Amino acid sequence: MSAGIDTTSILEALIPAVPGALPDRVREIGLPLTAAALVDELVHRCDPPARSGGVDIHLRVTSGPESADYVVAFGDETVAAEPGVPEEPWARVEFTAENLAKALFGRPGPINTGAWRHEALQLIGPDTPPGEIPELLKVQEGAMRANDALLAACSPHRPSLNELASRFGTDKWGSVHWYTPYYERHFSAFADEEVRVLEIGIGGYHDLESGGSSLRMWQRFFRRGIVHGLDVYEKRLDTPRVRTIQGDQSDRDFLRRMSEEHGPFDIVVDDGSHFNRDVLASFDALFPLLKEGGIYAIEDLQTAYWPSWGGDDRDTAAPTTSIGFLKKLIDGLYHREYEAGKPSYLDENVMGLYFYHNLAFVLKGANNECGAPAVVRETPPDYIPGGEEE
Ligand SMILES: C[S@@+](CC[C@H](N)C(=O)[O-])C[C@H]1O[C@@H](n2cnc3c(N)ncnc32)[C@H](O)[C@@H]1O
Repeated sequence: MSAGIDTTSILEALIPAVPGALPDRVREIGLPLTAAALVDELVHRCDPPARSGGVDIHLRVTSGPESADYVVAFGDETVAAEPGVPEEPWARVEFTAENLAKALFGRPGPINTGAWRHEALQLIGPDTPPGEIPELLKVQEGAMRANDALLAACSPHRPSLNELASRFGTDKWGSVHWYTPYYERHFSAFADEEVRVLEIGIGGYHDLESGGSSLRMWQRFFRRGIVHGLDVYEKRLDTPRVRTIQGDQSDRDFLRRMSEEHGPFDIVVDDGSHFNRDVLASFDALFPLLKEGGIYAIEDLQTAYWPSWGGDDRDTAAPTTSIGFLKKLIDGLYHREYEAGKPSYLDENVMGLYFYHNLAFVLKGANNECGAPAVVRETPPDYIPGGEEE
């Protein structure tokens, strides 16, 4: 649908204009490109129902006197859109470009059913032969399910990350890993914001067309965000609001340039090579460039204990391993509570750490809280049994 059109860049320009500056922005971009990008987004959000097979919906997007027409074709568990007018649409749905942009990217709130015009064609009339009615009812039911799916996609509702992980087939839930509930816990506050997200590791390795499952999951979750995927292999992914970048996560200079061009990022997820030295190099380059209030997540930390991956199963605090490095950050978080010397950048800018099985989150923000008064530090209270002796 979006062949030849850079849908991601169009949406990147459109989303910040929602709602007040939309009329001007739609005029600047022009209706054909605006409509193409919005319809692409809508189709990607649509969760096509089973048994809706073979239903076409006529979708019209307007702006003043102009309009852009689309055939939205529902197959069995598939949905696709093409410019044009269907020969036999089961329903017609019409949005102004502004209303469609607001429905997709506006702040969450009650669904405004007046934001679109809808007309369902009646398959059964007074002249329908009775013998044809059962079959037509089946078609009508499928058509209603397709229609529901289309309009449900125009709402701020988002499925849980567990559902999205299953829908798009990433292993972040349900097989090897059980990460998505933790992501839900830490990332929900960003889900309706205009975030810039980076995931290192797109998946599919050397295969140009495969991978991208988790990028699609993030795209659906961060409904106003721009999602970037970095992989050492070239990747092609035709999903709006997703940009793929080729590069090596161990190349600090490249990562800094990438952040300058596409960031600053609010969220970084490292699901790349999982070699300890690569994890540390990426963190070293990208954490200082992360936005204040942002989160840096690292997956598959088990490799910190695997010597063949650059880990260490004897010295589990070795600073060359991801876990050894992260453990040290805990000391930095508490640097004001002991004589730690001159605080480092990380001491002053890591404000929280969360650890789960094989997954950690590092929260960026000023670590400014003052330490406990020296008198408390030096003198244990005498009401603690044994305290006086220390
Ligand atoms: C586990 S897969 C990512 C899976 C994906 N995040 C998902 O959840 O669906 C790891 C990916 O990291 C990429 N990768 C490996 N080494 C890398 C490096 N040095 N820099 C960037 N990407 C790398 C691989 O090509 C592979 O596609």
